[in-house]
Amino acid sequence: MREDANAAMIIAEDLVKVYRMGESNVEALRGVSLTVQAGEFVSIMGPSGSGKSTLMHILGCLDHPTSGRLIIDGEEISKATDNRLAEIRNRKIGFVFQQFNLLSRTTALANVELPLLYSGVGSTERRNRAREALERVGLGHRITHLPNQLSGGEQQRVAIARALINNPTIIMADEPTGNLDTKAGAEVLKILDNLNEHGITLILVTHEREVAEHAHRIIHLRDGKIVHSEVLREKKPENGKAAHLAGLNENA
Ligand SMILES: Nc1ncnc2c1ncn2[C@@H]1O[C@H](COP(=O)(O)OP(=O)(O)O)[C@@H](O)[C@H]1O
Ligand SMILES: [Mg+2]
Repeated sequence: MREDANAAMIIAEDLVKVYRMGESNVEALRGVSLTVQAGEFVSIMGPSGSGKSTLMHILGCLDHPTSGRLIIDGEEISKATDNRLAEIRNRKIGFVFQQFNLLSRTTALANVELPLLYSGVGSTERRNRAREALERVGLGHRITHLPNQLSGGEQQRVAIARALINNPTIIMADEPTGNLDTKAGAEVLKILDNLNEHGITLILVTHEREVAEHAHRIIHLRDGKIVHSEVLREKKPENGKAAHLAGLNENA
């Protein structure tokens, strides 16, 4: 855990990502450098195809950059093996996606428990922790529901509970409100705001200005490059000190 509240949580230097498509190459990222402080909330905006998801995948250790350096919580990971990447991801990063990505024949509780299966946590502890995580997002009364018995907003809250189950230091959300109506979107944003207020570093990808404005800072991408960075408000100095110990239970 970081004692220094102003420590850099993510340092990206000159990230390049080239997708090979048969004969041709797609340059999805063309030299992106950015630093995200512990406890900071950063939005990434940009038109469709500008490289937002690609950047989030690389910052989240879901994919390797073609070139460039990435340091997460003090660890150089550009050259890490796939196993090590998976470990960092499981321990430090929670993901939330536009499509929720829940297993459809599986209850809310079992969906949230899932990441713990891979961490070798016993079944009783899995269930207790999953229940707590669902309570944190205000779904303690919906644990045996299947995804199709939940509203879109509730499904996204289940996905957030799943992202929280390993006590991540960082949450990455790619268009988390993209499939939700305004009211459900606002509820999801309130939960994300609250997690950030309790010290979680938050990266939010969106193409909606109003959604992006929840952040401390907005980074604008275009054609795989950062074209503009806007500071909206200062991060409170204490934010980022102790994400793991933060009173996340006050959420919901
Ligand atoms: N797996 C992939 N294979 C080939 N091209 C891809 C792949 N993923 C993304 N791209 C291309 O890279 C560019 C950036 O995509 P993406 O990061 O998804 O943008 P955004 O999230 O901003 O819409 C686009 O031109 C897209 O078509
Ligand atoms: Mg995208």
